[in-house]
Amino acid sequence: MTAADTQAPQQARPVAGRTLRDVCGLFVTGVTVITSGTGEAAAGTTVNSFTSVSLEPPLVLFCLHNESRLRSVVETTGAYAVNFLASHQEKTALAFAGKSTAAITDVAHHASVTGVPVLSDALAFLSCRLVNAFDGGDHTIFVGEVLELGVPRQSQEPLIFFRGFLGALEEEPRGVHPIFDG
Ligand SMILES: Cc1cc2nc3c(=O)[nH]c(=O)nc-3n(C[C@H](O)[C@H](O)[C@H](O)COP(=O)(O)O)c2cc1C
Repeated sequence: MTAADTQAPQQARPVAGRTLRDVCGLFVTGVTVITSGTGEAAAGTTVNSFTSVSLEPPLVLFCLHNESRLRSVVETTGAYAVNFLASHQEKTALAFAGKSTAAITDVAHHASVTGVPVLSDALAFLSCRLVNAFDGGDHTIFVGEVLELGVPRQSQEPLIFFRGFLGALEEEPRGVHPIFDG
């Protein structure tokens, strides 16, 4: 064995997409429908890759598959809305996750400040102006500035995604540690 052998970095095995998806499926998330476009062009896609980014300025992001039909709609419109689904909206989540996703006209909706539709029965919504798009491998990371928000269904439970299943919280999480602010 030579010195070069002992110093050679460990060759990690390539991570299979299916395995990565299964492990990431252990990270419980809420479920959103991202809506974009106006009039006839309005469209929506079910997404769980939403996260908040910054409070000052107010920024959020989501990741969209590069082959998604919504991609060009978001880029053309320069705006999108994030609709947090409530636990009773499992059918809505599935309707916007199929090969031929539902039409916005199939669900109750109204225009947000940017003109992009907001799902009227969602737990909460954030209406955003697109400020940046980053390459994220086979996805694009869309960063938006929040211009308007609302919680029209405050008392309802969220729809959650865990281990590849949609469901509801069984009980309110009762944390023993307070969440830090910031
Ligand atoms: C719970 C759940 C979460 C999803 N999250 C994402 C996501 O974060 N990004 C994404 O591109 N697709 C996600 N999908 C898949 C899209 O909803 C699906 O590929 C849809 O058919 C895309 O349609 P489109 O081409 O009209 O956008 C998710 C699906 C489900 C059911």
